[in-house]
Amino acid sequence: MSFWFELGFASNPYIVKPLPSTKEGRDLLVGREPDLRSLLRRVEEGDTHVVVEGPNGVGKTSLVAVAAWVAGERFRRRETRQLFVPLPEPLQIKEDADEFISDCYFAIARAFLDNEDTLRRADRRIPKSRDIRRWLDSPMLGGKGLTISTPWGGGGVSGSATANSSAGFSGAGFKATIRTWLREAFPEGTGGLVGVIDNLELLETSDAARRLLEEIRDPVLQLSGMRWVLCGARGIARSVATTPRLNGVLSDPIEVAPVDHQYIPDLIEARLRQYSIRTPSRPPVSSSSFEHVYEVSHKNLRDSLRHAQSFAAAYEADFFLAKNDEQVHESFIEWLQNLAVENERSVKMQPRTWRLLDDLASSGGTCSPSDFDSFGFNDRAHMRKNVVELERYSLVISSKDDDDQRRRSIEITSKGWLVHYARAEGLSAPSIPGL
Ligand SMILES: Nc1ncnc2c1ncn2[C@@H]1O[C@H](COP(=O)(O)OP(=O)(O)OP(=O)(O)O)[C@@H](O)[C@H]1O
Ligand SMILES: [Mg+2]
Repeated sequence: MSFWFELGFASNPYIVKPLPSTKEGRDLLVGREPDLRSLLRRVEEGDTHVVVEGPNGVGKTSLVAVAAWVAGERFRRRETRQLFVPLPEPLQIKEDADEFISDCYFAIARAFLDNEDTLRRADRRIPKSRDIRRWLDSPMLGGKGLTISTPWGGGGVSGSATANSSAGFSGAGFKATIRTWLREAFPEGTGGLVGVIDNLELLETSDAARRLLEEIRDPVLQLSGMRWVLCGARGIARSVATTPRLNGVLSDPIEVAPVDHQYIPDLIEARLRQYSIRTPSRPPVSSSSFEHVYEVSHKNLRDSLRHAQSFAAAYEADFFLAKNDEQVHESFIEWLQNLAVENERSVKMQPRTWRLLDDLASSGGTCSPSDFDSFGFNDRAHMRKNVVELERYSLVISSKDDDDQRRRSIEITSKGWLVHYARAEGLSAPSIPGL
């Protein structure tokens, strides 16, 4: 019998993938009603692409995926005449513009194929699936099309985009064909495909992000019948949204804040309910345990779920079955504390660098290189030296940004928050049981 089955679940309820663009995704999205409404309004009513900015792991990709599904649902319920259909998965940004453009076109072709019935029922003019398959399978394109079937979050189309040569791709007329398909299926004002361009922060500098977005402006962002949502962290989305050449193409960014603490019990219980196959089940991480780890990881949902998952994986099912709720909760806290202490012990830094970590944590966990003064440094270079040391231990992550020194581009990592937890709680003392 599988581990999760023994505990009364169909599979792992703490899975860290973004929520899918489906009814299940909608059911699991908790604490985001105002964000969902405002995003939906921009997708449905705006004439610019939408920009979403927010810290890592707060749920940006999930929010956008669910919004795209809800937009489609509104059409099915006849609440609007605009039909919106999500692309099969979010597109991960990459530096090579040609390769990224090719990823976008493939995703669009796949969306036509995957949503043939929906589009047909809505009386839309759509290409013959035979023609789409022919394009996707064409040897000139590396025949990669139909071999892609990756679920959300797994890299998908972009992950396998190696075979196709961009020269062959652009010469193929594929782009012109895609343009026609989109124009015919979605005449002005009748909706479109919704695509997510995710993780802009992977481009590191706002200069690189701007260059890439300018390169894809005409072939991707100006495609009629497409509504793009661009997501980024550490200020990068905000930074690109305001550049002159992209003005009028991108909206002012929507800021996505962490899910408020009050929703966390419901959020985790919705998951436990969804995955449960009998009652009572025995969740390794209950809602109160999850509230604790959510606080420790500074409201990073992805990191909190990852810790919950690792705790479950650290023991056999019998371990959980033999304990009551209170005992499982205590084991979790002890496990998390041990993890924090182990991480803290592996770090050997000067007192000044430790103080920077402490100060950064108490001021919210992010800062920009120009904040040196408020952290007690005489100049930027001195603060930089300490930041580099924190980076060396992966306690902070920072994007290089020569053209925008004020961007809050330095951020405490998951490991940084754990180490901070060990310090703030004074856990290093040798009295911790089990060490
Ligand atoms: N409102 C929500 N309700 C329930 N679960 C959520 C919610 N938002 C996000 N999640 C879950 O939290 C995790 C992180 O979400 P997601 O990947 O969307 O965050 P992100 O901000 O896009 O992260 P990244 O910065 O890594 O791109 C996922 O496992 C997702 O399923
Ligand atoms: Mg994301």
